[in-house]
This record gives sequence, C-alpha cells and structure tokens, in this order.
Amino acid sequence: MALAIRQLQKHFVGEVSGLDLRVPLTTEQAREVEAAMDKYAVLVFHGQDITDEQQLAFALNFGEREQARGGTIVKKDEYRLTTGLNDVSNLGKDGKPLARDSRAHLFNLGNCLWHSDSSFRPIPAKFSLLSARVVNPKGGNTEFADMRAAYDALDDETKAEIDDLICEHSLMYSRGSLGFLDYTDEEKAMFRPVLQRLVRTHPVHGRKSLYLSSHAGTIKGMSMPEARLLLRDLNEHATQPEFVYVHKWTLHDLVMWDNRQTMHRVRRYDQSQPRDMRRATVAGTEPTVAQQAAE
Ligand code: OGA
Ligand code: MN
Repeated sequence: MALAIRQLQKHFVGEVSGLDLRVPLTTEQAREVEAAMDKYAVLVFHGQDITDEQQLAFALNFGEREQARGGTIVKKDEYRLTTGLNDVSNLGKDGKPLARDSRAHLFNLGNCLWHSDSSFRPIPAKFSLLSARVVNPKGGNTEFADMRAAYDALDDETKAEIDDLICEHSLMYSRGSLGFLDYTDEEKAMFRPVLQRLVRTHPVHGRKSLYLSSHAGTIKGMSMPEARLLLRDLNEHATQPEFVYVHKWTLHDLVMWDNRQTMHRVRRYDQSQPRDMRRATVAGTEPTVAQQAAE
C-alpha cells in the first residue's frame, strides 16, 4: 500500500497510512514524511506496534538523537528505559505508577503545561515522536497548538512589538509555576536558563511562528511581571480552540510533531493506572539566537 496522508479537520495535522514503522523506510519514504512534517507540523500514525529500537530507527531518518541528559531530575541509574528513548510514562523503574508524592512524578506533571520540547536547551529539539504502549483509562489526551497560524493571526502592532524579543527558558520556570521550587545546586546548574527568540522562522518554508513554552520565564530588557503578562497573553491567544488539535490516544498510535512550529501538553489522567508513552527525540541543528548574548 502506498504512503498516503489525509488532512484532518485541523489543517496542521496529517494522518498517515501505508507505512509500517517496523520496517526501515526507503529514502523516498523518509523524504515524503519529512516533507509532510514541514507542511503539516503534526503527523498521526495508527496501529504501529513497534519496539524501542524500531521507534528510534524511524526517528533517525530525520536527524540525530537528542541526548536526554539535562532534561530531568531522574538520575541515570533510576531510568526505566535504557534504549535511548525519553520516558514520558508515569512509571518507575519497577514498572509501577510512581508514588503521587515522589519527586519524579511531581516533576513530570510539568508536561501538563503547554510547551515545546527542549526549549530549555541552547539547541532545542526538532521533532518528537511519541508512541503509546499503554493507554490510560481516563484522560491523558495530548493537545497540539499550531504556532504558525497563531503568529499569522496576531495584529501588525503586536507582531512589530515581539518580532525581535528574546526569552529566557528553564525547566525551573515551568516547574516553578506549579510550585515545584526546590532544586539541588547540581540541578540549578543543569537547568540554567537559555535564550530563545520569541518569534522564529522555519528553516525550510520560511514561515514565522510564535516560539512559546511554559519554560519561558522572562524576556530580555523587560521586568519579569511585564514579561510574564505578555507571555500569558500570547499563550492565551495561541491556544484558542481554532489553533488546537486534541489527540485521543489509541494503543500503538505514534504521533510525531515539529517542535519548531507547535506547542503541546498532556491533560490530567488517572495516576493510579499506568500510562506508558515513549518518546524519540530528534535533535535540532542550530540555536534560535546566539547564547553569548545572555551576558
Ligand atoms: C512529550 C510530552 C505528552 C504526553 O512526550 O514531550 O510532552 O502526552 N508528552 O505524554
Ligand atoms: Mn513534551
């Protein structure tokens, strides 16, 4: 069956058929998927019962693997997955749901805030590929916002005001907004803020998008309250229903998104039941702004 893509009602989402992710892609298929990512920004694949190795191999068609280090408080010897995937489940190393008061669980709740993956890294992620291995019985939808359409819909005055602004992003800002405020000195060093443009331009099609994320905590040259109010307004604008696609998971779905032109969040779910989601992350290739400008 040939690869086909059906545009969903939300125009930035394509549903892909005719591809078996257990098998290596041909060069032509990989090129078609990447071109579809540039066009849509989110792609949905159903019925992909894949292993971690197959998931990673599929991701590596689109760039290099992003290293997980620096993105979590979970220590390496506590990782459940040792296959190079990011663990986005609610499970501990023993395979059981994490205790509700465990630090790892509380930290992971940050994924319920709108964000773009790795915007807290100097070179943020390109694509993320999330595979549903165990679906939670209640809640846990993942929502995506089209940040190109959100940018386009701003008025000219706002565009002019924000076009050259630079934000500081850190995991301590996103988690801090949920009241998670205690970090070791080592974590504080690891989560040092990085700079990101507030408006970024896509390297392939050249469209601008709003580069928002809950990791953004302040804006250069602005007071923090002023910056946060502006970021709140922009977030409110960008996450209106017209820009948002809600993905309701079925077992073995794989959803792939472009972090350079979307934001996402997971909705609350039943934490007493497992939700096993595994992410392969494709590294970005360049920063959105020179980091030395931080000084
Ligand atoms: C992610 C993420 C949301 C989810 O994988 O980057 O934010 O649905 N996941 O678990
Ligand atoms: Mn994420």
